[in-house]
Amino acid sequence: MDDILILGIESSCDETAAAVVRNGREILSNVIFSQISTHTLYGGVVPEIASRQHIEKINQVVDEAVKQAGIRDRELTAVGVTYGPGLVGPLLVGVSFAKGYSFAKKIPLVGVNHIEGHICSNLIEYGDLNPPFLCLIVSGGHTHLVIMEDHGKYTILGRTMDDAAGESYDKVARAIGLGYPGGPKIDEAAKKGDPKAVDFPRAKIADNEYSFSFSGLKSAVLNYLNSCSMAGREVNRNDVAASFQAAVVDVLVNNAMKAVENTGMKRLALAGGVASNSLLRKTMEDECRKRGVEFFVPSPVLCTDNGAMIASAAYFRYVDNRISGSDLNAVPNLKLQEV
Ligand code: KG4
Ligand code: ZN
Repeated sequence: MDDILILGIESSCDETAAAVVRNGREILSNVIFSQISTHTLYGGVVPEIASRQHIEKINQVVDEAVKQAGIRDRELTAVGVTYGPGLVGPLLVGVSFAKGYSFAKKIPLVGVNHIEGHICSNLIEYGDLNPPFLCLIVSGGHTHLVIMEDHGKYTILGRTMDDAAGESYDKVARAIGLGYPGGPKIDEAAKKGDPKAVDFPRAKIADNEYSFSFSGLKSAVLNYLNSCSMAGREVNRNDVAASFQAAVVDVLVNNAMKAVENTGMKRLALAGGVASNSLLRKTMEDECRKRGVEFFVPSPVLCTDNGAMIASAAYFRYVDNRISGSDLNAVPNLKLQEV
């Protein structure tokens, strides 16, 4: 069979990314233009500025991805693009570009769910991994515990009721003055702090043991900072970072292990930006080992938003004949397809 070469385009938030992936698993190029330095000035992603930067960069990023892959654009089989969930303006830039590209190059267009893309980063990292497996997706916008039953088919066990895990990292980092993006900064600060210094709450949701909630934890950190300031006590930022991170990781690992025990599944994967967190990777790996569960986690470059994961997800849709029409539109609150 001929190789299937997919160009994947990602622009749902603050990364303009494009990649070429062979047969769904082999990265030929993976180009990421991060807007972090721009948004750092404002302490978070400004959607309008993000859209404009995507428009400015997308041509260059796609050309670079095709060039670095060492192929001609006419060798591409299809173009895959994130059409949701995400910020509507940034999504529209990618979707419009991909439609134009598909029309001009006369290749099929494949719309991809961004969360499905994150999950597929595991299929790139581990060439032999195939569904079914459990997957915990933890990013700036999403916290989902799912069973990937088959390609494009999911059972959602739990999701966050309020803030996403990454969002809580970003908000807490801002509150303790570590800046944006919060995840990597808290990860580093926590290494120098005491995770037992402050006993922050671990939320439990009454009617679903797999659901998450992080806004109460964020409020508890804010209250702690306020009470220190009222009492004139100095805040040890490293201790707050370590104690906050311990609470987040505890909840993520506990819910995932409940799913392991209740479903009897023997494989668990992590995905999304927060999957690069050092404590989460280590704790999840240890807990999986104790239970004889195989643990999968993508390299950090595949955890944060990238085009390769979108190309991989597009490949599995393409071979299943799930191709999009030219009426593909951005869907900011797109859900995963449940079985
Ligand atoms: O997957 P991603 O790049 O974008 C979304 O789809 O949201 O995830 C970005 C999120 C941000 O909230 C960022 O703070 C978080 O991932 N993040 C981390 C780490 N690296 C990135 N959170 C915790 N520890 C990290 N090392
Ligand atoms: Zn993402």
